[in-house]
Amino acid sequence: MKTKTPPSAKTADLSAAESAALRAKHVLPLPGPMFAKPIQIVDGRGQFLYDEDGKEYLDGFAGVATVSIGHSHPHFVGMLKAQIDRLQHNPPLYLHPGVGTFAKRLADKAKTVNPDMGVCFFTNSGSEANEMAAMLAKAYTGRSEFVAVQRSYHGRTVMTVALTGQHAWRNLAPFPPGVSFAPTDYAYRFDGTPEQSTKAALKGLEATLKTSTSGRIAAFFAETIMGVGGAITPGKAYFPEAVELVHKHGGLFVCDEVQAGVGRTGTHYFGIKHWGAKPDILVMAKGLGNGYPIGAVITTPEIAASVKGLNHYNTFGGGPMAMAAAHAVMDVVEREDLAANAAKVGARLKGALEKIAARSPRVGEVRGMGLMLGVELVKDKKTKEPAPELTVAIVERMKDAGVLVGKGGLEGNTIRIKPPLILTAADADRIAAALEAALADA
Ligand SMILES: Cc1ncc(COP(=O)(O)O)c(C=O)c1O
Repeated sequence: MKTKTPPSAKTADLSAAESAALRAKHVLPLPGPMFAKPIQIVDGRGQFLYDEDGKEYLDGFAGVATVSIGHSHPHFVGMLKAQIDRLQHNPPLYLHPGVGTFAKRLADKAKTVNPDMGVCFFTNSGSEANEMAAMLAKAYTGRSEFVAVQRSYHGRTVMTVALTGQHAWRNLAPFPPGVSFAPTDYAYRFDGTPEQSTKAALKGLEATLKTSTSGRIAAFFAETIMGVGGAITPGKAYFPEAVELVHKHGGLFVCDEVQAGVGRTGTHYFGIKHWGAKPDILVMAKGLGNGYPIGAVITTPEIAASVKGLNHYNTFGGGPMAMAAAHAVMDVVEREDLAANAAKVGARLKGALEKIAARSPRVGEVRGMGLMLGVELVKDKKTKEPAPELTVAIVERMKDAGVLVGKGGLEGNTIRIKPPLILTAADADRIAAALEAALADA
């Protein structure tokens, strides 16, 4: 897959500086390009990206956990080219073979975590898919109270911002009422053992259900491994017991796999399989389309039946291009056994990062699973004071060294590593080496 010759280097019409100036003038001034000097990407091949000067970057962020099978995978490109030649758009008003065939494939995958799964709905983004999950939960339970987790991120629509537990992402309140937050199982910042952290988070969830809701909720929303929240990974006991509690209070478990799905956590297609808990609704997006916009909700026929008779419409959801992209991604994930690769290469990378953590006074914790990893940076390992400025400096230095990674966490002090699932052992070693060099430098 690796190519040293970028396919169309030097062909960009605008320099990065010209692009940045146009964007600053004509695009809303919301968080824009990363880096003190933004980079402009014009080509991608496999796990590599190229700027307009042909500089190669190892992509350790995959467009925020989205490019699951690598950039410009030949099968993906071929399927999309074939589809665009035949039919580009088909509204839900007419049948198209792509929708039913992919819905069946995805629902069959979902049976690995809940054998009753069988029905899908397609959207264009994770936010829209979470909106649909909330709507399904309301329709099925007849209730409209939700519980989410502190530090969560579920999207940018009004309802999904309300479900997001991070101040920096909760702009322009008020939001729809009825969302309460349970504490996070964040063992690194808990004063006790990881098992005690899990127990405390579960107690907190029960307290939230009993004190901040009517005691009967529509749903509990949770990410398996937190994405924007900084790869926070609950203990093994968390999800099975949380789901039991939620069911006791009449709610559904909506498992947000927008980042963790498609094999990213290693071995399994869905991250939640590692916990053995049974979701009632699964939400996916990002890696499902490898960059082609698609979101999906998967649920049981019984829950799905609750929206019968309601009007709902999504112009682009389940369109032929999106379904071709999704089929192509699933083909590659299966043929190349990318969940197994994520487990193998992810374990190697995590091991290398843990060795760096043992040597560095600034690495507080390495966490995550498969190729969904986080490295939390602190000013002092004893006080655990977050080091957000250092995190920015490290991400910047790694970019200069040709390795792209992201950052996140409530305090902005966690480096997020989520490369395409085709990452090789040599790539993993390069990411770890770039991090260590940046730490030494900064
Ligand atoms: C866990 C999770 N859920 C939902 C979303 C929203 O997805 P989108 O940006 O496609 O609307 C995101 C996006 O980062 C996410 O990480």
